[in-house]
Amino acid sequence: MAVREVLKMGDPRLLEAACPVGDFASPEFVRLIADMHDTMRALNGAGLAAPQIGVGLQVVMFGVDANPRYPEAEAVPYTVLVNPVLTPLSDAMEEGWEGCLSVPGMRGLVPRYVALRYQGFDAEGQPIDRSVSGFHARVVQHEVDHLHGILYPMRIRDLRCFGFTDTLFPGQVLQDD
Ligand code: NI
Repeated sequence: MAVREVLKMGDPRLLEAACPVGDFASPEFVRLIADMHDTMRALNGAGLAAPQIGVGLQVVMFGVDANPRYPEAEAVPYTVLVNPVLTPLSDAMEEGWEGCLSVPGMRGLVPRYVALRYQGFDAEGQPIDRSVSGFHARVVQHEVDHLHGILYPMRIRDLRCFGFTDTLFPGQVLQDD
């Protein structure tokens, strides 16, 4: 297990489409999950996608603990999601602020589907099928975008709503994903 370097925006590997995982028992896959977990925890991230550590496989993980200082930031269960498929549950979208470990120190206002169903597999290859909304749905969309070579600044509608975290939100400690 190891904390891996997170690629930053500008690295062409972040713009590639990731491939499905075929073998959940391979040592390489087990090591990937462990390294992603260590990296996300070390950087206090809300989520991480395999392409962010230079691995072009369809693997994301995310999880947010409840924080009494930010009651509006709801908890999201720690989840490893492999080969994900997203299905919006309606056309409704809403804007929300996002950050990313590959775009350090910045925040942008990004439109996302309010509610969606996500399907895929956990780290042991067991099926996952959840319908979620709000912040949980936002985090999933952000992470799965990484598997399609999309970084959140590419979805910002008004670039006036994109800037440095410490200027936009002075004094706040915010998580990136
Ligand atoms: Ni990200």
